[in-house]
Amino acid sequence: MNSGCSIVGLGLHLPRTCVTNAELERIVETSDEWIRTRSGITTRYFAQPDETCSVLAYHAATAALRDAGMSAHELTHIFVGTFSGDYNLPTTACLLQNMLGIAGIPAVDLAAACTGFLYGLESARAFTSLYPEARILVVGSEVTTSRINFEDRTTCVLFGDGAGAAIATGQANPGPIRVLDVMLKADGSVGHLLTVRGGGSACRPVLHESIGPEYFVQMQGREVFKHAVRFMADISSTLIQRNGLRPEDIDLFIPHQANLRIIEAVAKKLGVSMEQFFVNVDRIGNTSAASVPIALTEARAMGRIQPGMKVLLTAFGGGFTWGAALLQF
Ligand code: UT7
Repeated sequence: MNSGCSIVGLGLHLPRTCVTNAELERIVETSDEWIRTRSGITTRYFAQPDETCSVLAYHAATAALRDAGMSAHELTHIFVGTFSGDYNLPTTACLLQNMLGIAGIPAVDLAAACTGFLYGLESARAFTSLYPEARILVVGSEVTTSRINFEDRTTCVLFGDGAGAAIATGQANPGPIRVLDVMLKADGSVGHLLTVRGGGSACRPVLHESIGPEYFVQMQGREVFKHAVRFMADISSTLIQRNGLRPEDIDLFIPHQANLRIIEAVAKKLGVSMEQFFVNVDRIGNTSAASVPIALTEARAMGRIQPGMKVLLTAFGGGFTWGAALLQF
């Protein structure tokens, strides 16, 4: 285990446009009541065309840099978790690097769906053990609505857009939030339950007419729900035990914000009260890879995290991929 990695800055950015359940009622056959009772969501943010994935990432990154009191020129690496980048090429990480005006440093996208930020954080932890001087920008940024079928009521009411960012440093520049431990998992055998196939090289030919439902998120909701609960609860519990702790020793759980009922079920499985869980899915919806860093940034800004607290992040997403991270504030 490597405890030489810490977080020195956090930031988030949400698009300008907040969309209510009532507005979605005008687009698909749904109801505010169904959305609230099945998912806990009341609003989410939709990016306008000028608010691309890299633009959202840029605003979250500059907020994190401000929080860290750092200039972009001090960064050494960039990792961006996303499934809805501006393009296939150039990557969103390279677009972001260019916007920050810091050509030269390594920059790469990580495709791990909603677990993208945790994959980025573990990559940062590995890089900081190789390079103790590293100052790594880890971003989760999504314009999920670019990949949502607004004729599919089972998915379009759940997702939103946004970005969250953290700056991770090595032993040479220790910060106020220590990354004590991270655990990642994946299981490709159940990947077909949550897909965005269109635009991939196996979906040839890419003609204008070929843009159909395959181009958008397709999800077997109930099956995904069950896996999300089991995997997030199991990995959280394993990580907690691996660090000699019990669930009640965690001051705040910050789970992926996909559905309030999923969060409640994870809390129940871990045997802890919902008071120990941070929730913002009601206001922000499911922002995939951006969900965990947005929630972490908000939780701290709202005073839910104080120095000395132990915080557990956990996420689950397409692939399937899932993970957890233990932080010490
Ligand atoms: O980010 C990680 C990946 N995503 C997730 O973790 C999401 C996981 N899944 C879920 O959160 C839930 O399964 C959903 C919110 C997607 C659905 O909730 P559910 O309780 O599993 O509902 P269901 O899919 O079993 O559908 C129940 C009913 C169906 O009607 P019938 O067959 O009972 O007549 C659906 O057609 O609700 C209907 N329905 C809707 N009704 C109104 C589905 N979507 C809607 C809708 N408005 N938007």
